[in-house]
Amino acid sequence: KEDLLKEVISHAKEYGFVFPSSEIYDGLAATYDYGQLGSELKNNIKQYWWKSMVQMNDNIVGIDAAIFMHPTTWKASGHVDAFNDPLIDNKDSKKRYRADVLIEEHIEKIRQKINKEVEKAAKKFADAFDEGQFRATNPNVLRNEEKIKEIEDRMRVTLEENDLEGVKKLIEDLEIVCPISGSRNWTEVRQFNLMFSTELGSVAGDAATIYLRPETAQGIFVNFLNVQKSGRMKIPFGIAQIGKAFRNEIVARQFIFRMREFEQMEMQFFVRPGEEMQWYHHWKETRLKWHKALGLGENYYREHDHIKLAHYANAACDIEFDFPMGFKELEGIHSRTDFDLKQHEQFSGKKLQYFDPELNQNYVPYVVETSVGLDRMFLAVMSASYKNEKLEDGSERVVLSLPAQLAPYKVAVMPLTKKDGLPEKATEILNDLRFDFNCQYDEKDSPGKRYRRQDAIGTPYCVMVDHQTLEDHTVTIRDRDTMEQERVAIAELRAKIEEKVSW
Ligand code: GAP
Repeated sequence: KEDLLKEVISHAKEYGFVFPSSEIYDGLAATYDYGQLGSELKNNIKQYWWKSMVQMNDNIVGIDAAIFMHPTTWKASGHVDAFNDPLIDNKDSKKRYRADVLIEEHIEKIRQKINKEVEKAAKKFADAFDEGQFRATNPNVLRNEEKIKEIEDRMRVTLEENDLEGVKKLIEDLEIVCPISGSRNWTEVRQFNLMFSTELGSVAGDAATIYLRPETAQGIFVNFLNVQKSGRMKIPFGIAQIGKAFRNEIVARQFIFRMREFEQMEMQFFVRPGEEMQWYHHWKETRLKWHKALGLGENYYREHDHIKLAHYANAACDIEFDFPMGFKELEGIHSRTDFDLKQHEQFSGKKLQYFDPELNQNYVPYVVETSVGLDRMFLAVMSASYKNEKLEDGSERVVLSLPAQLAPYKVAVMPLTKKDGLPEKATEILNDLRFDFNCQYDEKDSPGKRYRRQDAIGTPYCVMVDHQTLEDHTVTIRDRDTMEQERVAIAELRAKIEEKVSW
């Protein structure tokens, strides 16, 4: 699986999906550029989200707020005081770690130990092996699982209580049991604020510190009344937004999983106080269904309920995805209570209340939030779709079996040869199809090579124009996944493609 991430990164670069940012200057850590195919795939993911969240829901509308916001926004939201990561340096290797991530890496190492034990037993006992029973009874497995629980508890308590000395002690203990850094010489743990700041205004002394938003959500909260009044929205209703967010991540790696500049797709759902748990469960279920409807495979997803809650939440869970690096957070669903709106009321001095005509009463609504990282969705889709297939004739192919709706190109139109009027006929077909689908014209190299190239970028259909086309107005259409070819009338092409690629 480790190789999978490397392969996906190199495939993404080779075919124009993702490039390291400013590569000619040797790149900039944790920043990436989406190339000609990547931007198409990314736009299609956005569209999948926007359509299902905004356009298919009567009571959800979308906005596009500015990245810069009044600096008091971030005081009110708690980000100035509490949006921190605990950092620790190893004095010998000079390597910097996020303390919680380092602890999780230790836990992962112990998990791997357990899995090795299970694998060994599976091999040894073959048919008679029952994994569940083995995990429940084997003393080594039980001891290690107990250890994990203990570490998790200690991590939760020390981080929750901001006991930085305790966090350091935990890391030192872990380095003895299962070393990661190879050295026990650590600095103190300190809190590091993740917001990027810059200055507004050009006159010295007149400048004010402003922040690049670390989440899009606050642009929604501060516009709550604007949207509610101008759109005559009735509770429950939602406001959705797609946009860039910025975090000065310390441990920024694993490709586009953790970036310093990334995009979020967030929706705040405003509800009556007391009804938030019912909506929290509704959105948890709805969002998981949305992910699964992509068809990447149900086993890729699992839910993780938070025990440690952020200062604003009364319930929270992650939808995790089985990335090449293992299960990690893809989306967060949070019941944020009335924390944000109340804070903004207090800091702005403006009332942010809703008059509920049914209850005949004013109140500050409660909020359930869904927040998914666009770049993480991109990585999830790419890594689950990337396949190195062995074919029946012994040859191999790389295929990106993207959900057809998300594929950058829906169809590639090709003339069998570059003569006899075939390119002209192919162009005519392409010009007709391109009104409805993103199409590519491809005439270079042998048909086999062209098919492989389209497989590698995930194009669901290839249409081949040959000499018979000129006689009977039919073409062959080849399916990316089955590799089967079928003869169809040109007049039927649109309906056939539409059936596969429409939402
Ligand atoms: N408004 C709530 C919020 O921002 P979060 O869990 O911090 O919650 C939500 O972020 C989602 O944004 C995450 O589930 C993840 O998909 C994405 N995300 C967060 N930090 C990221 C980063 N550094 N790089 C890429 N995506 C990130």
